[in-house]
Amino acid sequence: MDALLPAGSPLAHMATLGEIAAWVERTPLIDIDRTRTRAVAGHGKADADLVVIGEAPGLDEDRTGKPFVGRAGLLLTKILAAIHIDREDIFITNILKSRPPSNRRPEQHEMSAHLPILYRQLALIRPCLLLALGKTAGTGLLGLKTSLSGMRGRFHDFHGLPCMVTYHPAALLRHPNWKKPTWEDVQRLRNRYDELTECPTATHV
Ligand code: URA
Repeated sequence: MDALLPAGSPLAHMATLGEIAAWVERTPLIDIDRTRTRAVAGHGKADADLVVIGEAPGLDEDRTGKPFVGRAGLLLTKILAAIHIDREDIFITNILKSRPPSNRRPEQHEMSAHLPILYRQLALIRPCLLLALGKTAGTGLLGLKTSLSGMRGRFHDFHGLPCMVTYHPAALLRHPNWKKPTWEDVQRLRNRYDELTECPTATHV
């Protein structure tokens, strides 16, 4: 993952997730880093096998500094529990570490500015599996240009890591009929998680 960092990035020298979080909190990179209440670097285990990646913090996350703690977060916790994953056993983060004003969609230049933070987090955590939530995460991370229904249902390769893309829990709150395909996706994720627990095939760039 470090090969993805821009040349000379200070992130390359950061040795812990705490160091990254402290740097993110004190270092504005783009305009939304100046309007946020708290930066939301991510939360969870430093050696998690699974990393869940959302879009950007919302109001509750901006207030608390923790990812997925609002209504969508509660649903995410339930979805994970349904496949017997405790959110404290994994790492949860977002493409953007700051809340876009009025929860508008992240812009491409904002994702480009913040993605190196995620790359360094992944380099330190060394998970075996990724779950990207929603179209913005699928596009920002994997460069996929299709609709979410075209992204979901299979694993994509993210520099040697299998990455499932599924519906964002906030979208599920608005469209409960998308819960069934999401359930299929997370069951596939659980099966692959069981197969890969020892990370035998993942290669890291
Ligand atoms: N939506 C996201 O994409 N991330 C959060 O942390 C909360 C809501």
